[in-house]
Formats: sequence, C-alpha cells, structure tokens
Amino acid sequence: MAKIRIAVVGAGVIGLSTAMYISESIPNCCITVIAEKLTPNTTSDVAAGMLIPHVYPDAPIHQQKQWFRETFNYIFAISNSLEASDAGIHLVSGWQIFKTIPDERIPFWADVVLGFRSMTEMELKKFPQHRFGQAFTTLKCDCPPYLLWLEKRLKRNGGQVHAGHIGDLWELHGKYDVVVNCSGLGSRELVGDLKIYPTRGQVLKVHAPWVKHFIRDGDGLTYIYPGIHNITLGGTRLQDDWTLSPDASTSKHIFDRCCFLEPSLQRAQDIKVKVGLRPSRSVVRLQREIWVRGREKLPIVHNYGHGGGGFSVHRGTAKEATQLVKDCIAALEASTSKAKL
Ligand SMILES: Cc1cc2nc3c(=O)[nH]c(=O)nc-3n(C[C@H](O)[C@H](O)[C@H](O)COP(=O)(O)OP(=O)(O)OC[C@H]3O[C@@H](n4cnc5c(N)ncnc54)[C@H](O)[C@@H]3O)c2cc1C
Ligand SMILES: *[C@@H]1O[C@H](CO)[C@@H](O)[C@H](O)[C@H]1NC(C)=O
Ligand SMILES: *[C@@H]1O[C@H](CO)[C@@H](O)[C@H](O)[C@H]1NC(C)=O
Ligand SMILES: *[C@@H]1O[C@H](CO)[C@@H](O)[C@H](O)[C@H]1NC(C)=O
Repeated sequence: MAKIRIAVVGAGVIGLSTAMYISESIPNCCITVIAEKLTPNTTSDVAAGMLIPHVYPDAPIHQQKQWFRETFNYIFAISNSLEASDAGIHLVSGWQIFKTIPDERIPFWADVVLGFRSMTEMELKKFPQHRFGQAFTTLKCDCPPYLLWLEKRLKRNGGQVHAGHIGDLWELHGKYDVVVNCSGLGSRELVGDLKIYPTRGQVLKVHAPWVKHFIRDGDGLTYIYPGIHNITLGGTRLQDDWTLSPDASTSKHIFDRCCFLEPSLQRAQDIKVKVGLRPSRSVVRLQREIWVRGREKLPIVHNYGHGGGGFSVHRGTAKEATQLVKDCIAALEASTSKAKL
C-alpha cells in the first residue's frame, strides 16, 4: 500500500505533539506540519507550560483527568531521562494558595501530581493574607525549548515542518489523505467555529534565579512559575480581547501582585513582557468529520480549543487525535478495497 499522507495544520504544542504521536504509532505514513507561525512565535511560546489542569466546563472530569495523567506520566518520564535539559523539562515544587477555603479542598488531579498535601501552618506564615493552601510537585515545559525538541524528534521520525498559511482546508485536498486541524484560535476562521474565542494573557518573563518554588493564587490570576532560565510572572485573563500589544499599566499590576507574594522579586532583572491569546472553548474539540464537495471527500480530525491548559493535557489529547486518524485511515482502506471489488 502507498504511504498515507497526513497534514497537520498548526505548530504550537498541540500540532507538534499530535504529529509526533502519529509518527510514533502509525507506520507507513508521511507527516507534514504546516503552520503560519512557528516557534518562537506561537501562543504556546508565551505560555509558562506548567502542568496544572485548567477545567473545561463541558468535558467529563474523568476524561480531563485521563488527559492530564497521560501527559504528566509522559513528561515525568522525560524529566527522568537524559533528554530533560534538551526538552526544557523539569520538576518544580510549590504552593497553590487561597484567601478563602475552596469547596473542593482536594482537586481531581491531586493523585496525579506528586506529594499532594495541605500546607502546614508554618508554610502559610509566608502568605499572611491566605488561609489555606496546597503543596505539591509538578512539571514544567519551558518554551521554546520544548517545542524545538518536539520538532527535532518529529523530523527524526521522518516528519516535515513547513511555514504557510492555509486559507481553506480544501487547499490540502489531493495532496493529503487525512488533515488534522490543530490551528488553535485559527480555527475560528479556518472551520468557522464561533465557539472558540481568545482569552488574552499578559505575562512577564524575568531573571530571578534564587526563586525556586512556584506560587499560584487559587483564582489563577496571579502566579510565579520558575523555569530553567527565567521565571514567568502572571497574569491576566481577558475574554474576547484580541490585542497582542502589551499594556504597561497591566505589567506594573502583575509585577506588584507577584512582589506581594514573593517580595524578593523586586530585585528581578531583565524583565520582558509577552502577550498570548488562549484558544478558549468550553471543551477541546476532538472530532473526526468528512468534508464532502461534489464527489471529493476530505477526512479531517479536529484537535483544538485547549484554552488555558494546553500543556497540561497535550499528550492525552494527541493520543486521542491519533486514534481518530487511525479510524480515518481504516475507513479509507475499507472504501478503496470496496472500489477494487
Ligand atoms: C499567558 C499564557 C500562559 C499560559 N500558561 C499555561 C500553562 O502554564 N500551562 C498550560 O497548560 N497552558 C498554558 N497556557 C495555554 C496554552 O498556551 C495553550 O493552551 C496552548 O498553547 C494551545 O496550543 P495550540 O497548539 O492549540 O495553539 P497555538 O500555540 O496558538 O498554535 C496554533 C498554530 O496554528 C497555526 N495556525 C492557525 N491558523 C492557521 C492557518 N489558517 N494556517 C496555518 N496555520 C495556522 C498557528 O500559526 C500556530 O502554529 C497559557 C497561555 C497563555 C496565553
Ligand atoms: C518569528 O517572528 C520574527 C518577527 O516577526 C521573525 O523575524 C522570525 O523569522 C520568526 N521566526 C520564525 C521561526 O518564523
Ligand atoms: C480548523 O477547524 C476550524 C473549526 O472547525 C476551522 O474554522 C478551520 O478552518 C480549520 N482549519 C483548517 C486549516 O482547516
Ligand atoms: C530567558 O533566558 C534565556 C536564556 O538564559 C535568555 O536568553 C532570555 O533573554 C531570558 N529572557 C526571556 C524573556 O526569555
């Protein structure tokens, strides 16, 4: 049989990890990633890349937990290998703190991360305005290194990565047998999905190598996420705001909020501002469909709408998307063998 040609649209963490999963588990295919923006210019490059789930209101919790567990286990194994520094992956311990005690003292992902427990009174002394907190160890994927690592591994498995804008998925018809849509916010135009919208996030990337613990305010608005070289200070969440230029007064607010939690950040250096638009949706769209135009058919697999938690679930959703690609290939093979009869 001829090789199955697969196009993946999008080269953020979702497109690259999906292409990589396909390259690891579907033999006899050739994979091409096509994206308008490549690392370091994607939304994924702005993210802190912390593995702490974001909740998708319309997806069942057991499914979200499964996506998170698969991702955590995968990244944990890399952190425990020679590849860790190349991939920009490291373990990080810290605290999630609350001013009022949350209804759910134990989140659904508590037994996925390492060493989850309530904070002690002594630990809470560091945060006089907070009454409750959770201590745990999780993982962080630094970007761009993680995206570059995915790209390198994908190429080693025979995949290709090209820059290019796709105006209409039909452009790919004839050149590819299956198209995987990982275009994030681009899906709004590309497939006309109006359920996806931007949630603008502004962050500061600073140099303060003495800060080793992460701190996340329970509402998710203020956070300090130490990476290998820089610390990400956040943040903001503005729905339906498409502005990509940074706002100076917002930067000052973020910096003040973070210094309030970690006073030594006053001495941070090399402060840079970044803005990203999270591809928000009430649930990730993981779906197979067949576009039909006259006698032409184009099998498409969608994997987009990861909002504020793409890193936390990327490996799990890549696995599910790969299964959908396998279903498309099985359907293609069934229809070609029928045609031959
Ligand atoms: C400030 C901020 C902090 C964050 N922190 C975290 C965190 O700590 N942990 C976490 O889990 N998540 C975090 N996120 C969320 C995370 O960044 C996203 O969920 C994730 O990046 C989504 O990845 P993606 O690949 O779907 O999208 P993107 O990275 O936006 O990639 C989309 C790709 O599709 C391409 N594309 C779109 N349309 C077209 C087209 N028509 N033709 C060709 N190519 C196209 C783009 O060029 C790009 O390559 C954060 C987000 C922000 C903004
Ligand atoms: C990223 O964007 C910058 C500025 O627009 C551009 O010069 C650079 O070539 C881009 N990088 C890639 C890999 O596309
Ligand atoms: C991806 O899906 C979205 C939503 O269905 C759509 O708007 C967009 O055109 C698709 N992208 C491509 C490249 O087909
Ligand atoms: C982060 O760290 C890298 C490597 O040390 C450095 O080159 C870069 O300027 C730092 N700052 C930002 C905002 O990335």
